[in-house]
Amino acid sequence: MKRVFVTRNLPGNALERLRAAGYAVEVWPEFLPPPREVLLEKVRGAAALITLVEDQVDADLLEAAGPDLKVIAQYAVGYDNIDLEAARRRGVRVTNTPGVLTEATADLAFALLAAVARRVVEGAAYVREGKWRTWHPELLLGAELHGATVGIVGFGRIGQAFARRCRGFGMRILYTSRTPKPEAAALEAEFRPLPELLAEADFVSLHTPLNEATHRLIDRAALERMKPGAILVNTARGKIVDTATLVAALEAGHLGGAGLDVTDPEPLPADHPLLRLPNVVVTPHIGSAGRATREAMARIAVENVLAVLEGREPPNPVV
Ligand code: DGY
Repeated sequence: MKRVFVTRNLPGNALERLRAAGYAVEVWPEFLPPPREVLLEKVRGAAALITLVEDQVDADLLEAAGPDLKVIAQYAVGYDNIDLEAARRRGVRVTNTPGVLTEATADLAFALLAAVARRVVEGAAYVREGKWRTWHPELLLGAELHGATVGIVGFGRIGQAFARRCRGFGMRILYTSRTPKPEAAALEAEFRPLPELLAEADFVSLHTPLNEATHRLIDRAALERMKPGAILVNTARGKIVDTATLVAALEAGHLGGAGLDVTDPEPLPADHPLLRLPNVVVTPHIGSAGRATREAMARIAVENVLAVLEGREPPNPVV
């Protein structure tokens, strides 16, 4: 019986489809990821792996899996945790789950933007802490969403879905991407090179994949270019931002705040300096965490596994 190893329990019943098709499915049952040495043991002899963003899939892991491994189905749209070259060298297919998580992720990016701009988390803490004693004209003043200029870095599916939300809230939209996108016209989004976008936008939201070109794209120079009081939102990958410099820019009062669903390091330790800043809202990488979205991601990962193991072209190939 061919084995499929899944590195965490997935919502919904998509894995039943694999069992019904005659595969032996082993799911890592714990909440935390399998320790590295356990993972290397578990993948041995597997025909397919369903992996998550925290699983490091590299040449050693592929070697440990051995020649039966045919497919790594990543349960995410991003696959920066996977060494694609190593997979290619061994003829192992890699797939992902694009499309289904677009709207959920854009929702969370917008929620973070609104929460930071209008100081929702600070306001909720203020009430819980018993500080609410009067209505005051100067209490918890924040940035207006309506009429603001938002700069979207990366204008793929999620960037465009985020733009639709911003448009609904009456914002002017700037975007940057490798080349101008035809879809931008319908959203009345204007192309800008990154330095210009950073200098013009009141809010900057990141929607690029993590790769060599985007690693620490938001570095000291980029943060210095941002407008005083600007807000940074990151729902893409933590390593796109130079965290130490972001902390410095926030502490110095240059930035107005940050909404981060992804961080570097990730998970973020509870004593991290970012968490001492009241104008920072951090969520634990839950951009795609809508129930229906996460169930759909599981169905897609399973469909990709089945396709490869049954000799068909997978619907969502990366390699
Ligand atoms: C992704 O899909 O890449 C997210 O980070 C996890 O859903």
